[in-house]
Amino acid sequence: MFYLRRTIVKCCSFILLLIFSQNVIALQKNNTTLDAGAIASPDYYGALAAQQILQKGGNAVDAAVATAFALAVTYPEAGNIGGGGFMTLLMDGKPYFIDYREVAPALASRDMYLDTNKEVIDNLSLYSYKAPGVPGTVAGMWSVHQRFGRLPWQQVLQPAIEFANDGFYVESQLAQRYQEVLGKAPNNSYFEKYFSGLQTGKLFKQPELANILTLIAKQGMDGFYKGETAKLIASQMAENGGLITEADLANYQAKWRKPLIANWQGMQIITAPPPSSGGVGLIQLLTMKNILADEFKNIEVNSPKYIHLLAEIEKRVFADRANYMGDPDFISVPVTKLIDHAYLLERANQVNPTAISNTDEIQPGLSDNKEKLQTTHFSVVDKWGNAVSNTYTLNGWFGSAIVIKGTGIILNNEMDDFSSKPGIANQFGVVGNDANAIEANKRPLSSMTPTIITKDNQVLLVIGTPGGSRIFTSIFQVITNVFDNQMSLSEAVFAPRYHHQLLPKDQIFIERFQNRVSKQFKQTLEDMGYNFYQQDFSGDIQAIQILDNQPNAVSDIRGRGRSMLTN
Ligand code: DON
Repeated sequence: MFYLRRTIVKCCSFILLLIFSQNVIALQKNNTTLDAGAIASPDYYGALAAQQILQKGGNAVDAAVATAFALAVTYPEAGNIGGGGFMTLLMDGKPYFIDYREVAPALASRDMYLDTNKEVIDNLSLYSYKAPGVPGTVAGMWSVHQRFGRLPWQQVLQPAIEFANDGFYVESQLAQRYQEVLGKAPNNSYFEKYFSGLQTGKLFKQPELANILTLIAKQGMDGFYKGETAKLIASQMAENGGLITEADLANYQAKWRKPLIANWQGMQIITAPPPSSGGVGLIQLLTMKNILADEFKNIEVNSPKYIHLLAEIEKRVFADRANYMGDPDFISVPVTKLIDHAYLLERANQVNPTAISNTDEIQPGLSDNKEKLQTTHFSVVDKWGNAVSNTYTLNGWFGSAIVIKGTGIILNNEMDDFSSKPGIANQFGVVGNDANAIEANKRPLSSMTPTIITKDNQVLLVIGTPGGSRIFTSIFQVITNVFDNQMSLSEAVFAPRYHHQLLPKDQIFIERFQNRVSKQFKQTLEDMGYNFYQQDFSGDIQAIQILDNQPNAVSDIRGRGRSMLTN
């Protein structure tokens, strides 16, 4: 009896010790507890949703899912349930990545946007019932919440349902974007009718969308991909020559992929793997800039020579993008080779620090620069030191401008991110080849680059932005402004940004909003042979930096974003 009791006591203490030591290990692994949680969101309501959820004990994933659904209501030009995106996460010190990019419907085919002369038919991949890919957002949010959520799914969707039912106040930027798209919507798109209430300062309510969100809250992802919602989507598609069927919706799957991770200056860059080109591009840019550190030394940030060096390395990245990148489930993308140090050394050494290197000798890139900027990004951290970096999109503002009747769901026009014809530019002016040709169930190549930077598994920076082909060059400039140029996060985000994407030849994109560029700056670059293209908008960075356990969240001055902290 005595021995039995001693054995029981021993066993119990062993179990207690085990539990205790595991807790200690867990605490050690996750010892970044922060002074506050934080959100940087592209609008006020998205920030509010995250703040409410963090205050109720939710973690960064709960808050991110709440923001994603909230923005589908209040940032309808890009926030969505009818689009797709990517999310990079750091949970308990470990990196994850979920790909919820749209896929081409099963009926899609390589030449579907070409006429009988094999010429691209205008607008078919942008504003027509053939433009949407099968949406991935609801599946992505569901998977990520199933794996990491802390609060119940229904509770996390509550803020979005309330914004849809009770309405939200329309900001002028949104009303203006609606006006810009109005004339482009395809016939029978229901777009104008649904959004006619988007007027500056007015309260805009969406009872139909509230119903669909309530269904998703009750049924999980099946509330979108099966049953009534799927039927409504598929029948409006079928009536109007669209391709998405109930089977496409039922078959959609978000995919967990290994995030792309690279060491950079003693830190880890955790970012998007293919089907994004953005992570590879970002790592190539950061590495080549490091290799050229001597050239960057003692030159002023954003001086003509600085911009020339950026342009030189960006050109080389875009040449690779056009040739090698696509959906890794369909083609083999040589990621390891593309970010290999020896390869990048060779590429960086081709940079001519004083003159433009010959574009024709680099590679094909793009032939047009029609610009559009219509994605959105948010970044979240919680007090446990977890982080979420999420970029999602409808592609164009309001996507294909198709609203599914009775649901308030806006469908994307992500099919335009495929290469409709090798060598012909898409709306971002970037070209592709076979690697990014259309195939049934394939994901179109993306530039979205949700990124987290860590050191010793602790978050230093969470960052992302919209901007099409300018996404990763923008993130690159903010990261280097913070870590190489020692700017504060807001200085780094607000600083002017420049962009070069190989072609049009020798063209530097500058921002219209910053007329701060001096005549002399322009003249010096023009004398070197550059020309300028003035763009309206170069992204909308939402970033959080952690300094001494204190998050500092910054929303770009270029958008209508808001940042909040929660204790
Ligand atoms: O996935 C992509 O790269 C594009 N569909 C993203 C679109 C975008 O960023 C528009 N920008 N604001």
